[in-house]
Amino acid sequence: MSFDGLILNNGETAVKSKFNLHSNNKRVYIETYGCQMNVSDTEIILSVLSDFGYNETTEISESDLIFLNTCSVRENAERKIYNRLKQLKGIKRKSPEKVIGILGCMAERLKKDLIENEKIVDIIVGPDEYRKLPRLIENLYGTGEKGIAVKLSRDETYDDIVPVRKEGVTAWISVMRGCDKFCTFCVVPFTRGRERSRKVSSIVNEAASLFEEGVKEVTLLGQNVNSYNESGNDFADLLRQVAEAVPGMRIRYATSHPYDCSRKLLETMAKYDNICKYIHLPVQSGSERVLKLMNRLYSVKQYLDVLKYAKEIMPGIGLSTDIITGFPTETEEDHRMTLELMERAEYDSAYTFAYSPRENTKSYRLEDDVTKEVKLRRLEEIISLQRKLSSRINKKLIGCEKEVLIEGSSKKSEDFLMGRTDCNKTVIFPRGSSGAGDLLKVKIIKSNSATLFAERTET
Ligand code: SAH
Ligand code: SF4
Ligand code: F3S
Repeated sequence: MSFDGLILNNGETAVKSKFNLHSNNKRVYIETYGCQMNVSDTEIILSVLSDFGYNETTEISESDLIFLNTCSVRENAERKIYNRLKQLKGIKRKSPEKVIGILGCMAERLKKDLIENEKIVDIIVGPDEYRKLPRLIENLYGTGEKGIAVKLSRDETYDDIVPVRKEGVTAWISVMRGCDKFCTFCVVPFTRGRERSRKVSSIVNEAASLFEEGVKEVTLLGQNVNSYNESGNDFADLLRQVAEAVPGMRIRYATSHPYDCSRKLLETMAKYDNICKYIHLPVQSGSERVLKLMNRLYSVKQYLDVLKYAKEIMPGIGLSTDIITGFPTETEEDHRMTLELMERAEYDSAYTFAYSPRENTKSYRLEDDVTKEVKLRRLEEIISLQRKLSSRINKKLIGCEKEVLIEGSSKKSEDFLMGRTDCNKTVIFPRGSSGAGDLLKVKIIKSNSATLFAERTET
């Protein structure tokens, strides 16, 4: 066999057989669960695999390899994967030659236990070891040996890999990986490892070439994107350089941590027209005491000060948040403070979760003492308050003219298009002569808590 040496991140050389390069005709089917980082990682995985001749299929029946790119953030997320594995058992029984792999955060968290407990799993690869996938697959085909690679890295950013993206108007650019915050409820620092950032130049080049290919909006991604730090450049510096280098590109980012949401970052957002006026700024709780127990590193006052400044310099800015309800020891009073904070913050939307204890995290040692019923009741109260706030904010937009970037047809009807405002509002309007990728001014005529409906003011 002849070798085409490929240096892996840990200095090892992968066996890349020339025979297989671009010619093995094996097809990979991947399901992606969890956050946008996983969506972006799937694009990296497909790129690594395509270099070795594995191509994607969207039909599980046509696939030679079935991968699940998994999430561990809540117990429910993992339960979903176990249920999916149960369904895959039937497929494996009929076609034992099909390879089944678990990738991503659950692979990292459960490691070899997954292979031991789930007999149908052949390959386990964590988020920092995707470069090893082709070698593990070849080894499996060659020797029948199951493969596992779950080391976390201090420097892997997949900087040199060009993701295999689906065609579209919008794209993700992953700019940093990992998280060093260690909120006491969260598995991410354990499944994703330490923070590391990509080079500014490679991010700027990626944004520029995406624009040339027709992409009109990028979202800079990281578990904790605003703690980006590379050779003295912080996240505001990165944002400024992307905004200046590609002035025609709309720029968003996710997810930011309030602790790293500096005035400099907000001022950079305000200064550039092509940076969308929208922040997802998870608060988690409105109770000072609970925030401390969560190790969130900010007080309610500091958080509200950030919002106040953001609204002052960017009137009408879009805001969203994450909230956890039923954290250990949370009282009715704590819960009430969360509702109060929501009213003061006036979020456009909120992602809300019942607390789920995760092994190895600090809060796992605290008794999960809020009953399921109470957690769900509080969650329901939070959701219904948010619906009210969203409806109220959206109603105020009736009569306003807004610019939208058209993303495609509306889900419900081909006669209508869907676009988003820079504040991240979804708008539905009649099709007319424009299409995906166009920027268009529309007039809002109707709204509900999730969507705006508009008429065209230009053809
Ligand atoms: N890095 C982001 C969030 C990543 S996880 C941040 O710091 O904001 C996404 C969301 O899942 C979190 O914001 C939190 O609201 C929720 N979450 C994380 N761990 C959880 C747990 N153990 N139980 C319930 N919700 C959780
Ligand atoms: Fe998890 Fe906190 Fe890191 Fe967000 S900042 S990923 S919630 S540890
Ligand atoms: Fe889930 Fe991992 Fe993302 S735990 S939320 S897929 S970082």
